[in-house]
Amino acid sequence: MSSSKRSQWNNNIVFIMAMISSAVGLGNIWRFPNVLYSNGGGSFMIPYIVSLFLLGISFVLVEYAVGYKFKTSLSRIVYSINSKLEPVAWFILLVVFLITTYYVCVVGWDLIYLVLSFTKAWGANPDLYFANHVLHANDSFAGLATIVPNVLVSIFVIWIVIWLIVKRDLNDGIGKVCRILLPILCAIVVIIVAFSLMLPGASIGYAQIFTPDWSALTNPNVWLAAFGQIVFSLSLGMAIALTYASYLPDGAKLVDNALVVAFSNSGFEVFNSIGIFSILGFMTFTSGIPFDELVTEGTGLAFVVFPQVFNIMGNWAYLIGPLFFLCILFAGITSAIALLEGVAYSLSEKFDASREKAVTIACIAGFLISSIFATSAGSMILGIFDSFLNNFALLLGVLLECIIFGWIYKFDELIATLNQYSTVKVGKLWKIVIKYILPVCIFFLWMQGVYSTLTSGDVNSLIVRIILCIVLIIVPVILSVLPSKSNS
Ligand code: PFF
Repeated sequence: MSSSKRSQWNNNIVFIMAMISSAVGLGNIWRFPNVLYSNGGGSFMIPYIVSLFLLGISFVLVEYAVGYKFKTSLSRIVYSINSKLEPVAWFILLVVFLITTYYVCVVGWDLIYLVLSFTKAWGANPDLYFANHVLHANDSFAGLATIVPNVLVSIFVIWIVIWLIVKRDLNDGIGKVCRILLPILCAIVVIIVAFSLMLPGASIGYAQIFTPDWSALTNPNVWLAAFGQIVFSLSLGMAIALTYASYLPDGAKLVDNALVVAFSNSGFEVFNSIGIFSILGFMTFTSGIPFDELVTEGTGLAFVVFPQVFNIMGNWAYLIGPLFFLCILFAGITSAIALLEGVAYSLSEKFDASREKAVTIACIAGFLISSIFATSAGSMILGIFDSFLNNFALLLGVLLECIIFGWIYKFDELIATLNQYSTVKVGKLWKIVIKYILPVCIFFLWMQGVYSTLTSGDVNSLIVRIILCIVLIIVPVILSVLPSKSNS
């Protein structure tokens, strides 16, 4: 990882599998069905596909071109474009790192549920079980004094797994794990979807996907939601695509690769949502609970609604339950390792440290921060981290990347890099998208996020957000002014 010995993917297939594995994560499994349902069902696919092509793939191409051309880490790339901008790179990387700390915690909760699912140990009331027995939730800062041992242990286990994977050589670690886990993940999803389609009432669920509400298309918020889902799902602006592309051997067909990755990621989430909706349709059919009350997002869907479904599914739940939580576990781990890789790579390049050392330091720091989420106040703080970092900080990072690479850097060189070996070529339209359309769309999405952040939340949220703002300003500046061996 350090500059003296650069890592490189063994071949293009490993790169594609690692990229798909990084994109397919919790966002595909539990975010997409809710976004789809709340924004017009079937008709949502129109803004979704437009956002995918026009904005999502376009931005992935920027990251591919920059990573492939410079063959180094984000912080060094930005430094070499303009040394004064280095704090911007560290800001983006810090946001990604903080996201990783709570992402790992959610994967840790999933690990707990994987174990529970073998005996349906959540009992008759999964809602209370999640709050009282798993999280020991306490919505005040006093909860920080109470450690929740099971959550701490599971977070520790996930960090150890991530450390063991990422510290290894690129191909033996990340490459090998993605090559093994991605096919297993796909097989599990196929089994779950096939099973769910046979459940009584499944059609109540999947009909929602195929029943369009055309009036939703005139609502700008639906378009923003589609774009937001693409940003989240393709992990835009997280330096993942840039880092992974920097490890590509010469001769890579960058545009072709981006299309394969983007279609696979979207194909996964659309296919997976057929299963999720069918299972929820079964729940509505069997229990009479209205469908719209079931289509929640995130932890509510995975750790409350699904356990409720497994409770009424009979013995099949002992198979489908563990498979469902295993699916989230694999998707989460392969995304978390990608999040960490970009951060660790920048650290190793800046301080000329070995891959193992940079990864170890990042994992220790990550575990220490994640431990905050293993207290009784953890789930409350995690919610604040999630909304602040995703709605505000991450989008700001994407916007800044658009400005740096679209406006400050000699953009036309990126066109040449992309077209060099690719079968599909990019041209003027791509340039217009990156320089004008994408920044405007992100700006509106960002304003929407800023507005919802400012108008929501209590005193606790305010305190956590202020702390995050201070950290997000000070740490990037410190990292930038620290002397670097490799930038000189
Ligand atoms: N794209 C991955 C997912 O959908 O879960 C990874 C990811 C995206 C992680 C956004 C975190 C995040 F905030």
